[in-house]
Amino acid sequence: MVANLANSLEINLRFLNPNDSPKVREWLLDPYVLDMTFVIPGPERQNLLPFDDKVMAQYINALLDDKSRRTFAIEANGEHVGNVGLKEINLEGHRAELFIEIGESEYRGRGVGKAAMILLLDYVFDKMALDELCLEVLEFNEPALRLYKMLGFETKHRSGWHYDKHGRYWQVWWMCLPKAHWFDVREGYLLPENLSLRGL
Ligand SMILES: CC(C)(COP(=O)(O)OP(=O)(O)OC[C@H]1O[C@@H](n2cnc3c(N)ncnc32)[C@H](O)[C@@H]1OP(=O)(O)O)[C@@H](O)C(=O)NCCC(=O)NCCS
Repeated sequence: MVANLANSLEINLRFLNPNDSPKVREWLLDPYVLDMTFVIPGPERQNLLPFDDKVMAQYINALLDDKSRRTFAIEANGEHVGNVGLKEINLEGHRAELFIEIGESEYRGRGVGKAAMILLLDYVFDKMALDELCLEVLEFNEPALRLYKMLGFETKHRSGWHYDKHGRYWQVWWMCLPKAHWFDVREGYLLPENLSLRGL
């Protein structure tokens, strides 16, 4: 039950902390989130799902403690509704990989993902010494593809294959956004009137 599904939403990011674990676990069990985010290269890896307790604990520990990651909780009017962050941070190469999930389904398709990405991209390109962000996306993930393209990410190449539960293979795209391009896109960027941002 969502307590404050208000029309006007203030979106902010804060660092993920151990108290957030129960919610992250719920999202790791959500079939929609898994179908849209988790890449299974072939039938031999299908047994990885659903995640057991041990795997979930390891993943959450990585989100919280892994030095090559930085994970933020997305809050909408103070409620934790998803996570966004960086992984594979390579400070020498000035690159990192990005991920996002809106775990609370009621908050998808309302501009929250877009707002969270703007906050993260501003933070990364203003405050961290990174010149490019890249990500992996499944070719059928329409909301994600639309969001990334709108923010200036460009498809570079296929980074692999995903084998779904119906036995069909899908392409996994590698998309990237250089810092300079973000500032061009950002300049002309407008959010819906009901959304406001609180920067990091
Ligand atoms: C992908 C995701 C982060 C997008 O966040 P969101 O808050 O739902 O998206 P937004 O409301 O900010 O919308 C972003 C764009 O996608 C479009 N969009 C949203 N939901 C859509 C849907 N179901 N189908 C098609 N387009 C959709 C919006 O219309 C918007 O484009 P527009 O401004 O041109 O209208 C979110 O849907 C999600 O967490 N999905 C599950 C996990 C996931 O897929 N993560 C990404 C893995 S690569």
